[in-house]
Amino acid sequence: MSALALMAGIGPAQAAAPSAAATVHPGIWPAARSPIGLDPAMEKRITGMLGQMTVEEKVGQVIQPEWKTITPQDVIAYHIGSIENGGGAVPKGDKHSTVKDWVELIEPYYRASMAPGRKVTIPLIWASDAVHGHNNVYGATLFPHNIGLGAAHDPDLIRCIGEVTAAEVRSTGMDWSFAPTIAVARDDRWGRTYESYSEDPKIVEQYAAAMVAGLEGQGKTFLDGNHVISTAKHFLGDGSTDGGRDQGDSTVSEADLARLHGVAYADAINAGTQSVMASYNSWHGTKMHANRALLTDVLKGRMGFDGFIMGDWLAHGQIPGCSNSDCATAFNAGLDIFNEPQDWKLLYANLLREVGNGTIPMSRLDDAVRRILRVKLRMGVFDEPSPANRPATFRPIGTPEHRAVAREAVAKSLVLLKNNGVLPLKPKATVLITGDGADNIAMQSGGWTLSWQGADNTNADFPGATSIYEGLKTEVGASGGQVLLSPDGTSAQAPDVAIVVFGETPYAEFMGDQPDVALHHDNVESLALIKKLKAQGIPVVAVMMSGRPLYVNPQINAADAFVAAWLPGSEGAGIADVLIGKRDFQGRLSFSWPKRPDQTPLNVGDAGYDPQFPYGYG
Ligand code: BGC
Ligand code: BGC
Repeated sequence: MSALALMAGIGPAQAAAPSAAATVHPGIWPAARSPIGLDPAMEKRITGMLGQMTVEEKVGQVIQPEWKTITPQDVIAYHIGSIENGGGAVPKGDKHSTVKDWVELIEPYYRASMAPGRKVTIPLIWASDAVHGHNNVYGATLFPHNIGLGAAHDPDLIRCIGEVTAAEVRSTGMDWSFAPTIAVARDDRWGRTYESYSEDPKIVEQYAAAMVAGLEGQGKTFLDGNHVISTAKHFLGDGSTDGGRDQGDSTVSEADLARLHGVAYADAINAGTQSVMASYNSWHGTKMHANRALLTDVLKGRMGFDGFIMGDWLAHGQIPGCSNSDCATAFNAGLDIFNEPQDWKLLYANLLREVGNGTIPMSRLDDAVRRILRVKLRMGVFDEPSPANRPATFRPIGTPEHRAVAREAVAKSLVLLKNNGVLPLKPKATVLITGDGADNIAMQSGGWTLSWQGADNTNADFPGATSIYEGLKTEVGASGGQVLLSPDGTSAQAPDVAIVVFGETPYAEFMGDQPDVALHHDNVESLALIKKLKAQGIPVVAVMMSGRPLYVNPQINAADAFVAAWLPGSEGAGIADVLIGKRDFQGRLSFSWPKRPDQTPLNVGDAGYDPQFPYGYG
């Protein structure tokens, strides 16, 4: 217990006693069953390993530093079992780092973990947020963010995206992705709404299973050399917080928490996910990282989850009485790996002390390490060569085959909200394209792109990618027409039709929280552009890129057609495919679309449901 908690007189018993609203009844939660199952021979092997490991070696497995704060020498000294790169933690701080640079970064840490001198040698594994493709890596294929994928209503496609993403992650010598996010975003003010497939758990359930299967493989391909560990995140209720506040408090009932937010975890487990990330948010005032009933009784008990629970970035430090470097509460609640990019050496010392004095039972430490070893054994890392020497390492990323999958996903994600007959574009047309998103791959890609926030990127940072303008130029050109790119909407030549591309600029996590669901960036400019073109008698197609449905009725009313393009990623040509009619519009809203800036929360099934465009529209 911390000094502060002592002074406040908060004993563990009191801290653990939840309010009536926050009481958990595991029996009402969905049960689950991993298809992998425990292998008695493997469990016996793990028991043998645990018997030979020192406490120090065990503690090293349950701490995950970020590479920036650890040296390979430290991996040896502290017996570290895994390392992550957070958003934008690119080799040497150079976002143009190549696949080779990434492998060269990882290899020495892995080798350090294999250094002789221990009775049990445990290979280190590496994790990254590959949340829309391998998005920290230069030249990777970038898929639409989850909100766009939700509109595609296509689980087979999701599985395929998982396969491609796994291949690109493997190319860089990594083992593990912090994905999929299976949040069910219920208030679109939330800055992470775009990481959510849908406000409806049905789609999220199907996609959770499909993405886990794609990333990890299934049956014979399960965690083979072409697949990676997946992470269902963030457990639990990240999309249910009051006001959509990131990392906030959720006050939904236990029944709603289970029904809306919990079910997809059962699906992820049924599909074989090997890790689950605990969430920053709290539920009725208790931080999820401290919620033993949910982490242990529900997830590991009721749902039978036998992989490990990963922490979120410094999230344990937010628990009252905890700090980044000291938090037995989280570990005793069921957390198996601390996400501790900063004070991990102090955390190591404190964990050792707490295991020594019994604050953390040895059985709890053994359980956590058993889970970690189980996943490593299932993956076969003990038998694999070093990252630099694995068959899948160095395979090309951003290949035409991979990009074709992303292009298809973009095309399928587009939702047509209005069309006065101007779409599809006529062949041989002269098309003017304007707006700040017209030739802007950074805006297409949103947050979690080469950096955490995805800000400060230019088209030159995306080799092999295609902006919407570039895609249109090729496709319209092939049909005998031409495309004029004009930042301010003027052109010497009169166009037959104009396309105005606008929307949100990149953000991630709490940086994207808003007080309402209005479009804040360039709202005035986009409307003025549409009106200016219309005043000249030019038909206008509005294409909006955004991480959530937004109140934009003035733009919708002013334009002849309106396309919700979400955050499509690196393949802008997928938008051209649909605008010119090579493919039909197929996307249907997986989120309800608001008719007022203050119309939030807004979800299908609400009493008095009265959206601008209902869930499923398109
Ligand atoms: C995010 C997670 C992410 C982690 C590691 C956190 O801030 O909430 O989704 O996996 O950082 O980058
Ligand atoms: C990291 C992200 C992380 C975030 C959490 C950033 O500095 O790069 O990966 O999710 O901090 O706040």
